[in-house]
Amino acid sequence: MKIIILGLGYVGLVTAVGLANSGHEITGLDVDMNKVKMLQNENMYIYEHGLEELVKENTKNGRLAFDTLENISCIDSEVVFIAVGTPSQSNGSADLSQLKNAIEHVVDKAKSPLTIVVKSTVPPGTGKKIKEMYLEKASFKHSYVSNPEFLREGQALKDWFYPDRIVIGGDDREATAFISDLYKDIKAPIVISDVTTAEMIKYASNAFLATKISFINEIANLSDLTGANIDGVVQGISHDPRISGSFLRAGIGYGGSCFPKDVRALDFISTINGHSFELLKAVINVNNRQRLIPIQILRREMGLLSGKKIAVLGLAFKPNTDDIREAPSIEIINLLIGEGAAIKAYDPIVDGTEKNFYYQEAVFTKNVWETVNDANAIILTTEWDEFVNLDWFEVYKYTQSPHIIIDGRNVLQPRLINEIGFKYFGIGRSC
Ligand code: UGA
Repeated sequence: MKIIILGLGYVGLVTAVGLANSGHEITGLDVDMNKVKMLQNENMYIYEHGLEELVKENTKNGRLAFDTLENISCIDSEVVFIAVGTPSQSNGSADLSQLKNAIEHVVDKAKSPLTIVVKSTVPPGTGKKIKEMYLEKASFKHSYVSNPEFLREGQALKDWFYPDRIVIGGDDREATAFISDLYKDIKAPIVISDVTTAEMIKYASNAFLATKISFINEIANLSDLTGANIDGVVQGISHDPRISGSFLRAGIGYGGSCFPKDVRALDFISTINGHSFELLKAVINVNNRQRLIPIQILRREMGLLSGKKIAVLGLAFKPNTDDIREAPSIEIINLLIGEGAAIKAYDPIVDGTEKNFYYQEAVFTKNVWETVNDANAIILTTEWDEFVNLDWFEVYKYTQSPHIIIDGRNVLQPRLINEIGFKYFGIGRSC
């Protein structure tokens, strides 16, 4: 089947290669000419494991092509997936301008009735409004389906081909059955609902996971004060299948392009609906506070931070991605620079100098050794394998007193690190 994917961010691109792999003929469209040019030349602008190979393979076999939205005079497919961004506005609400723009273009260029499938994360009730504002006035009777995505950056292809579930929300059975059929190669439970419920499922999923993280971070903070060890606590509670062990890794908090934005948006949606979602507010506050912990430890251990040499290992919001959106590293580096510390930072794939102008005063190094050389303290902000598997005996030789390590992701072995001579601090790992 001919399918158009509008919006070539990581969700759109993964959807494009996923559906191309199932044998569909995909045209990926974007308003950004540079992105399109890069893809046409088989170059990637995001780092996602395995994506480049699949883009190349499907482009070669003729199942995948890219173009700009402007270049398309009419839409000749039956289905259009929309995967444009819905970024946070300053009041926390989701900015829907890209979505509205996309729908206007689709309606304008349609030459026959379409099934419009929205993958973008949008507030519950958006689909209903889009139908009233644009689709009911259109020349053709288009169907609207909400099909939220649950892809994790860094393992997005795995999540596409082996998802936990597929959610399809539509207000008519024909459209939901039609879209379910596109996923027939994929083995996963399909949850069918109305549009608004599907939209809410997406927010509830991300907000629940963020809540788990903030909850365990608070237990970790309390463990630090009482002498309990968070690793043991998690081991003890996660045997209970009602709790489960996932998303209970304590640390310096969640970041990325999804959790922070979606939790804020759900809080905003609650407020405008006259409901104060107290739990969500706490989740946000705990997360904001969590990333300050390394700075509090450094102040406590070293006094004034002015002139102190701090090595930051990791810029990406999590391993296996080059995404630094709302990464804890950004705030930590900026605050330390504000206190006059000398920062050297390194990430295996993020190049701080090119992408992130606010880091101007930090020095971006090409490897771990340059970063830790002469450092008084090291902060591990992203749990890349390269850092977890480092020869910490060797690292110690490069550092200077007081040889502090703050393990912001609780991935190092505290006893070993202390035995080497470092002063180890994890999050809730008092031992
Ligand atoms: C998240 C969801 O997991 C996906 O299901 C969803 O599709 C996606 O958002 C989205 O809405 O697009 P992602 O942001 O890629 O995926 O990353 P996660 O692996 O969920 O991690 C998010 C953040 O939580 C990271 O900063 C990670 O370090 C942190 N985290 C995760 C913890 O601090 N502790 C944990 O136990 C797990």
